[in-house]
Amino acid sequence: MRMNISCCVIYLFLAWTTISVNGDRKHGRHKKRHDKERLTGLPRQDVLQILIENSTYNSRISPDYEQDHATVVDVQIYVLSIDTVNEQSMDYSMNIYLRQRWIDPRLQFMNYSRAQWLEIDFKLMSMIWVPDTFFRNEKKGEFHMVTVPNKLMHLYRNGTIYYSMRLSVLLSCHMRLQKYPLDIQKCPIKIASYGYTTENIIYRWIGHKPIDYNEELQLSQYTLLTHDLDNCTKTYKESKYTGSFSCVQANFILARDVGYYIIQVYVPSVLIVILSWVSFWLDVEAIPARITLGVLTVLTMTTQSSGARASLPRVSYIKAIDVWMAACLFFVFASLLEFAYINVLARRRVPYKCLGSPESFENSPGSNGVSRRDRGGGSREHRIIYVALALN
Ligand SMILES: *[C@@H]1O[C@H](CO)[C@@H](O)[C@H](O)[C@H]1NC(C)=O
Ligand SMILES: *[C@@H]1O[C@H](CO)[C@@H](O)[C@H](O)[C@H]1NC(C)=O
Ligand SMILES: *[C@@H]1O[C@H](CO)[C@@H](O)[C@H](O)[C@H]1NC(C)=O
Ligand SMILES: *[C@@H]1O[C@H](CO)[C@@H](O)[C@H](O)[C@H]1NC(C)=O
Repeated sequence: MRMNISCCVIYLFLAWTTISVNGDRKHGRHKKRHDKERLTGLPRQDVLQILIENSTYNSRISPDYEQDHATVVDVQIYVLSIDTVNEQSMDYSMNIYLRQRWIDPRLQFMNYSRAQWLEIDFKLMSMIWVPDTFFRNEKKGEFHMVTVPNKLMHLYRNGTIYYSMRLSVLLSCHMRLQKYPLDIQKCPIKIASYGYTTENIIYRWIGHKPIDYNEELQLSQYTLLTHDLDNCTKTYKESKYTGSFSCVQANFILARDVGYYIIQVYVPSVLIVILSWVSFWLDVEAIPARITLGVLTVLTMTTQSSGARASLPRVSYIKAIDVWMAACLFFVFASLLEFAYINVLARRRVPYKCLGSPESFENSPGSNGVSRRDRGGGSREHRIIYVALALN
């Protein structure tokens, strides 16, 4: 009996120790797993699930809607290419990455995960608030959808969101063509919020390299000199819905390459003017040749000047190319007029010589006299041509 009791006691003791050891081990394992979870955090997809769906997050409300300060959106532009600069319609087209960065404190996840940042799929982007950015001087623009919308979004643990997208935009650029084709144009890009006033959104250029360029960027007819940054924040006072809308601006400074114009406009027009002078070396009697040369050069000059201006809008002021073309036209026209004047003088000279010159009577009439008269006419005409050339 006593034996039985002691056996029972030992058995109970053993059982208790096993249970307690087991319990300790189980507790330890649990604790370890808890620690591990605290260190590595939740799986990333659960973090997104909690942030976006299991919380009060509302993508229709801007991040600092309840606060008294605005959400600061830092923007950066990466220029992939500048394709066309069109004087006729006064615009230029660009292919860019528009990058925006802002802080949405509602999306902080440092308590859930140790990940530095999360990449967000384009299908999920519609569930996150993004600023309503637009280009104030845009004429046409398009997203790129091949093969999926070309967008990127990264969410950092402190709530910073980095959002980038690829765009093709056609932007208006008011050009001053007074110095065309030796002009320098300043083409802006204005980024602003359409719906939120400065109460809610403020734009700012990113600190480091606000405008970045593709290394292979090359323009067909221009050289990109530099860019400058500006603030185009605008207050609309006219309507009763007054408000100030934040806006940032960058101006691309483009210098036209004059090479094309030297080959296509300047050299041909100089040659045509020189061609019109050829008529000065022709005989005054060669009327058809000189008339043809004169009229032909005037017509060619007219065609040239309208060709040079074909790609320009019909602005009312005088451009540098107009002055050049007008000067060339003046030269060829003057050489035609000069011929008309010489011709009149040459015809008037014949009776004068016949009546007044005693030499012509001295010589016997015949081939000899005619040739002398011709020679005299030639030298006189030459003198007039030299005077005309000097005047020109
Ligand atoms: C989100 O909420 C649903 C229903 O309330 C719940 O079943 C699910 O476990 C929650 N998800 C996370 C990651 O907490
Ligand atoms: C993270 O946890 C700390 C303490 O538990 C809390 O004070 C803080 O508000 C939490 N942050 C977020 C974003 O939930
Ligand atoms: C948020 O985190 C990013 C990435 O780690 C960092 O560059 C940025 O300065 C942080 N922003 C703030 C306000 O702490
Ligand atoms: C732009 O100008 C407005 C006032 O005209 C000013 O309030 C705002 O801070 C400026 N923005 C930047 C980024 O300098």
